[in-house]
Amino acid sequence: MLLTPVAIAYSLLYSIAKGDVFGKDQPIILVLLDITPMLPVLDGVVMELQDCALPLLREVIPTDKVEVGFKDLDAAILVGSMPRKEGVERKDLLKANVAIFKTQGEALEKYAKKTVKVLVVGNPANTNCLIASKSAPSIPKENFSCLTRLDHNRARSQVAMRVGVPSDCVKNVIIWGNHSSTQYPDVHHAIVNNHGKEMSAFDAVNDESWLKGDFITTVQQRGAAVIKARKLSSAMSAAKAICDHMRDIWFGTPDGEWVSMGIYSTGNSYGVPNDLMYSFPVMIKNKTWKVVDGLAINDFSRGKMDGTAAELVDERDTALTFLGA
Ligand code: LMR
Repeated sequence: MLLTPVAIAYSLLYSIAKGDVFGKDQPIILVLLDITPMLPVLDGVVMELQDCALPLLREVIPTDKVEVGFKDLDAAILVGSMPRKEGVERKDLLKANVAIFKTQGEALEKYAKKTVKVLVVGNPANTNCLIASKSAPSIPKENFSCLTRLDHNRARSQVAMRVGVPSDCVKNVIIWGNHSSTQYPDVHHAIVNNHGKEMSAFDAVNDESWLKGDFITTVQQRGAAVIKARKLSSAMSAAKAICDHMRDIWFGTPDGEWVSMGIYSTGNSYGVPNDLMYSFPVMIKNKTWKVVDGLAINDFSRGKMDGTAAELVDERDTALTFLGA
């Protein structure tokens, strides 16, 4: 596995190394890839990992070389990208990141196992993921996904707080589309266990204008709100979402529950254009995801799903011009 030691990775390493993601009996080798000037910092992270004395952690390999960083990986978590600051949209980072994710995709193609599961976190995550997958043509497109689990968790939590129940009493929210301010957090199919009684999120919340208004904008803008408050982008919650996402790929989703992740769109039943990394509701079994089909989509949802798709088409087309440049 491979990470870069930005703040997210620093929060993530401990959970992975202690077995929260790949299982309590799965020995772990961590390969930490970063740019050369960061190698002294990586040494400090390696020391800390050693000092945790975690029995599953068999080896930590810090490196600035892609041929070492991507060699024989089973799972790759691509966290590093040009980070966004206050007032910047994620897509503004596109040009710098196309170059980064092209290089990483090519390295995956050359050095990783063909079965590698690749999770792209660095923003703009969907389009970076698309570029990485296009740069690794011999690895199946289904092996690539990008993180919208953070948005999914945010949506779940917002509804839970509103109803006054723990977050695990809310399930089957959906994030459609881009991990950006156009994403569509959809609770039309969400179920709430409201103090022992299962009901729709709309019934449990009992405030349609909030669910169709402030709830959506809060989730869409949450990353920016965290940056504004912390002067740094989310790290702890992003690391938690990465763990949730990868653990579900490895071990599957619970019966009757779906999660959101950005995956390659091809021939889906929701009219989402092909050749995008678009966030859908998925169920996972045997390390294979399947889009949850047949959910009714009303006009309100349709408009929002199309809006975020249009942004992704635009990002993709811009990215492809950078890729060709
Ligand atoms: C987030 O959603 O918190 C991250 O993607 C950071 C950002 O740029 O918003």
